[in-house]
Amino acid sequence: MMAVFSGCELLDPNPEATVTRAPADTSIAVPHSGKELFQYWCAGCHGIRGHAVGNDITSLQGYTGTFDVFDAALTQGPGIMPRFPQLDSSMRHLIFDYIKTFE
Ligand code: HEC
Repeated sequence: MMAVFSGCELLDPNPEATVTRAPADTSIAVPHSGKELFQYWCAGCHGIRGHAVGNDITSLQGYTGTFDVFDAALTQGPGIMPRFPQLDSSMRHLIFDYIKTFE
């Protein structure tokens, strides 16, 4: 079970910890594009091209979910995935559009 987190050290799975840490750490540039947002918040678990770094993590390659399903995952945090209240609607759309480029 712990192996699932081995690639996620930069992405604290505790959503509250992520929210309080990110704005205070001025050494990290605020990401703006879907690619930057994905690489900052998601790639630690889902892989740089969505191939997932552990067996219990959903591959995002060829993702067929609708935006509503995707949005619900970020809001609810299925399984061991954290919730992402810090990502607003425009950020979620940027990330959604970006993961659609994974093959
Ligand atoms: C700490 C690891 C972790 C991080 C960080 C993470 N995820 Fe996940 N994600 C998971 C796991 C594990 C699952 C499978 C959950 C389950 O169904 O048990 C998952 C599932 C998903 C799903 C599939 C939901 C569905 O069933 O349709 C989507 C979409 C997704 N993640 C998107 C993202 C995005 C976008 C980000 C970044 C904002 C992100 N994840 C960050 C671990 C993570």
